Amino acid sequence: MKSITALSCSFAFAFAATLGAQTDPGPRGGPPRSGQPLRGLSGAELQAFGAGRGVFNEIDNVKDGLGPRFNLDSCGGCHAHPDSGGSSPAVNPQVAVAVKFGAVNQAPAFIQPNGPVRVVRFKRGANGQPDGGVHNLFVITGRNDAPAGCNVQQPDFTQQNNLAFRIPTPTFGLGLIEAITDATLRGNLAANANLKRQLGIQGSLNTNGNDGTVTRFGWKAQNKSLLLFSGEAYNVEVGVTNELFPQEREENAACATNGLPESVGDIGQQTAFMRFLAPPQPAPATDSTTRGAALFTQVGCALCHTPSMTTGLAISAALSQQPVNLYSDLALHRMGQILNDGVTQGNAQGDMFRTAPLWGLGDRLFLLHDGRAKDLGDAILQHDSPGSEAHQVIVNYGGLGAAQKQDLLNFLRGL
Ligand code: HEC
Ligand code: HEC
Repeated sequence: MKSITALSCSFAFAFAATLGAQTDPGPRGGPPRSGQPLRGLSGAELQAFGAGRGVFNEIDNVKDGLGPRFNLDSCGGCHAHPDSGGSSPAVNPQVAVAVKFGAVNQAPAFIQPNGPVRVVRFKRGANGQPDGGVHNLFVITGRNDAPAGCNVQQPDFTQQNNLAFRIPTPTFGLGLIEAITDATLRGNLAANANLKRQLGIQGSLNTNGNDGTVTRFGWKAQNKSLLLFSGEAYNVEVGVTNELFPQEREENAACATNGLPESVGDIGQQTAFMRFLAPPQPAPATDSTTRGAALFTQVGCALCHTPSMTTGLAISAALSQQPVNLYSDLALHRMGQILNDGVTQGNAQGDMFRTAPLWGLGDRLFLLHDGRAKDLGDAILQHDSPGSEAHQVIVNYGGLGAAQKQDLLNFLRGL
């Protein structure tokens, strides 16, 4: 027995060493290549972008509408890296906000100083029925700007198996994503049908139950527009009621201080900022990244991660009939058991996620919907578990030599 174990151990070690021959070059250094306004904006649009950035980064206190329950006190705190509008920063701001202004919140174990910003959904409610909604981490209780009688408590986050995490998606280039027509998305999904069928790739678009049009924002493509996302995020993440979401999610009268809605106009400004944010600027191509781009298509990644689409007619010239190099079909795919989060949103079931847009990957510190991966190779291998449409493509990837894999990883970190 012993010798067999030893043998299989050394074999596994050698095998891992071969696999380890390629490495993720990691996030790029240097100045951020995101966070700028789109080129070609009018003077008025540029002004709306600048003013919107201010509102996006504003810190809300209780008098501004924060809470009673919340996940952070500003949009820009979660959408921070590598610049305003982005994704999770290296230092998680949720640790500090838990005790800001005298608050006595405990940061749950899944919130770490060097881990990703996370929001939490419960898979099931107390009665065992499906839940799926966001349960806020923090309360204003104890803050020196909260009413003295306010005594709402944090939910119980100890039932690990019932928790589903999400990290922030970056918002760079989202005006372009918003301006892609539904017909373009449907046509793109229908393209390369034979190849997709051979590889077991299907995919479907998430849609709005009321009008049937395609929804495209969020990890499960659950949300229709930037304005709707802003309205919902302002109320859900920060606790600020607004013209789209006028009711508090926590209506405890002892914590209520403000007339509702607490903000009018902010969500339009936040939206203008995100809509006019330029897409991430890729690094200059090298021989290696050029080979990597070809391999990305050759093994089949590009069948879900569509490299480019074109926007339709838009009232803003900077968004009208423009290329969108997003590396996504914005469609839902079955991604297998290990990524399944047990949450249903619209047509998206537990194992279904929107193909993550890969533009800006060069700056991303945390990967996959719950931030479980930091390493690109790891994120790729997580695509393959029973039930995943990506299975055959990941097998193809596994068949590449170490130098080819390296080219592919270099290409991805150049995006
Ligand atoms: C506590 C952290 C946090 C705060 C604060 C926050 N967000 Fe987010 N944001 C997230 C997470 C997590 C997601 C992914 C949500 C999902 O798909 O379930 C997200 C997704 C988004 C998206 C979708 C992007 C895409 O690629 O589809 C938009 C738009 C957005 N947020 C805007 C905002 C705005 C505007 C605010 C401020 C009103 C805000 N967010 C505040 C964490 C946050
Ligand atoms: C069947 C469709 C499909 C195929 C094929 C596919 N992906 Fe993905 N990819 C997805 C989906 C869906 C996600 C989001 C999954 C999640 O977060 O749970 C994703 C996420 C990623 C991420 C993480 C991005 C982020 O924002 O966190 C990377 C990196 C990635 N894919 C690279 C690749 C590469 C490289 C290939 C080819 C070897 C590939 N993918 C093939 C659908 C696919």
